[in-house]
Amino acid sequence: MLSSFISLLALVSIAAAQSSEFGQCGGIGWSGPTVSVYNVCEELNPYFFQGSGGTGTSTAPLPTGTSTAKTNTVAKAAGKKYFGSATDNPEFTDAPYVAMLSNNAFFGQITPGNSMKWDATEPEQGTFTFSGGDAVVALAQGNSQLLRGHNCVWYNQLPSWVTSDVWTNATLTAVVQNHCGTLVSHYAGDIYAWDIINEPFNDDGTWRQDVFFNTMGSSFVDVALIAARAADPNAKLYINDYNIESTGAKSAAMLQLVSDLKSRGVPIDGVGFESHFIVGEVPSTIQQTMEQFVALGVEVAVTELDIRMTLPETDALLAQQKTDYTTVISACNAVPGCVGLSYSHLSDILDLIHRYIPGMGAACPWDDNLISKPAYDGIIAGFA
Ligand SMILES: *[C@@H]1O[C@H](CO)[C@@H](O)[C@H](O)[C@H]1NC(C)=O
Repeated sequence: MLSSFISLLALVSIAAAQSSEFGQCGGIGWSGPTVSVYNVCEELNPYFFQGSGGTGTSTAPLPTGTSTAKTNTVAKAAGKKYFGSATDNPEFTDAPYVAMLSNNAFFGQITPGNSMKWDATEPEQGTFTFSGGDAVVALAQGNSQLLRGHNCVWYNQLPSWVTSDVWTNATLTAVVQNHCGTLVSHYAGDIYAWDIINEPFNDDGTWRQDVFFNTMGSSFVDVALIAARAADPNAKLYINDYNIESTGAKSAAMLQLVSDLKSRGVPIDGVGFESHFIVGEVPSTIQQTMEQFVALGVEVAVTELDIRMTLPETDALLAQQKTDYTTVISACNAVPGCVGLSYSHLSDILDLIHRYIPGMGAACPWDDNLISKPAYDGIIAGFA
């Protein structure tokens, strides 16, 4: 869901006056405190910016990570293509963060969280804007990092012209062809893998009832994949989703879709396991599920890894989170067809899951100050 979590995010620096958590922190006509107590202020509309809460406070000192090994170096030594993270333009003003993200020993791959989505790239029909995505490409190339493109067709973060117009199967097919073809073509040669289709299924394995499915049936999947292949024959084409990381109805539907695409010769190269997990609830069948997809002749990748907990953080929760990160990395490590892993965010300060799931957070391997947590040691241990 990458940033279904974050769309309009403004990070502002701490000032003396602070608004309360979830209180107003900005907007036209607002003269009160301008930053939230946790340093994250979100523009809900031009008149109301809201403090989005934080990653929780703890009075006791918490344990930190101790490993000095670096994830991308370790992942590549284990035979993976990369270890990476999502990121995007609003974060590029944070120098310590950018320095960490740019360290190729830690991160051999990045994914733009928002700037290649439909609302960012084709806000009006036929008018394409690539500046945000181009900045992410430039960062990746400057750091010799692989890039994952994200995404072509998703039900969310669509401009209103896509969702409000009344399409026929034929006219929407042309729109999808043009969007995916133009987007993928613009970045041809720059992208290792593209999430062409994002989150097509409901959790019960039925198709999501969005404008694409309701108008085109499942043919939107073929149309987008075929257009993408023609636009960049060298990019790996993925379908990406959440709650497909365990055996069950949703992964069964995805397995069936991949099998069907393969049997009909529609291009499909990979499946992204988003992997938004909860501490203590990482699925025990994740390795088995990866193996099921790889057996169909596609690669898999962990694309948006985070493991959130109920706040506040405690020693026990951080220890369980460390174990849970090891479980995920070990599964990918054990499956040669699992080519790499990426975080949704590397630091808790950027992880706004708690905005949507109140009381939860602290999902990342680095804390608000870019200090590694026990989870980081768990990640390194997973490659052993
Ligand atoms: C849309 O058109 C395609 C052929 O281009 C066809 O396979 C598909 O069944 C149609 N879908 C609907 C819902 O009519």
